[in-house]
Amino acid sequence: MQLLDLPSIQNLYKKRQLHSHKGSHGHALLIAGSENKMGAAIIASKACLRSGVVLLTVAFYPENKSVLFNSIPEAMYANSCVMNDLSPYQAIGIGPGIGVGEISLQYIYELYENKLPVVFDADALNVIAKYKIDWKNFNFPFVLTPHPKEFDRLFGEHHSEFERRNIAIQKAKDLNCVIVLKGHKTFITDGIQTFENTTGNSGLAKGGSGDALTGMITSFLAQGYEPIHASILGVYLHGLAADITLQSQSEESMLITDVIANIGLAFK
Ligand code: APR
Ligand code: MG
Repeated sequence: MQLLDLPSIQNLYKKRQLHSHKGSHGHALLIAGSENKMGAAIIASKACLRSGVVLLTVAFYPENKSVLFNSIPEAMYANSCVMNDLSPYQAIGIGPGIGVGEISLQYIYELYENKLPVVFDADALNVIAKYKIDWKNFNFPFVLTPHPKEFDRLFGEHHSEFERRNIAIQKAKDLNCVIVLKGHKTFITDGIQTFENTTGNSGLAKGGSGDALTGMITSFLAQGYEPIHASILGVYLHGLAADITLQSQSEESMLITDVIANIGLAFK
């Protein structure tokens, strides 16, 4: 297993070229939020935009755009027909705050024909578990970002982190995907290689932290990073931004919006 340290991250990171333009760094699609959980969409969107993607479109239901318009003028908005034409996008992130009802299930069904890389998080994982979606329907690159409870809903009850990590390796291999098993020391595997994160602190143990990570990994995928590299970069920088936040906040006072504001320093 490889520990994620600064030199390994610097190796992966592709610096922007001087002649970069709007077309060079990808357009991400986030499917996040629902009536009482628009915060999840806002957090994922901000973290996505702070991680290098050039364009972001957010889709959600119900289509109450004003809350997003007011907090993120940089994003664009799509309605529920967004899945009919995915050609503008390079990557999709789905799950934060979407709920586990019929609408979310429909979004998952509509992904079946898709070829773009997808990050499944939060309620997208819960929908897959609840409706026992067959993984064979996913013929595209994908990343799963479960916390331990979501992991157990997907792959059965496990009693230790050691057990979960071993199952994660086996499942990532069988499903041909990347699994990001979140926690104090987040574990990342593509079924062949395994990585353990070294950044982050308990200030992240708050609602919304995972949503920010989804936005970040989706952003790196949209910029053309391979799923394993997008996952590594997202996890490491998310934790590093939280560690930088400790210079001005405590673990108790830290908000995920403070962490997102420090993504820039983490990049530097
Ligand atoms: N040290 C380092 N990193 C941590 C720590 C810690 N002690 N605790 C949490 N983190 C990181 C995780 O690695 C992960 O990246 O914070 C993020 C938390 O992500 P999630 O567990 O997905 O949390 P989130 O979805 O934001 O909020 C919790 O999940 O189960 C639901 O209903 C529950 O509302 C709750 C929500
Ligand atoms: Mg979560």
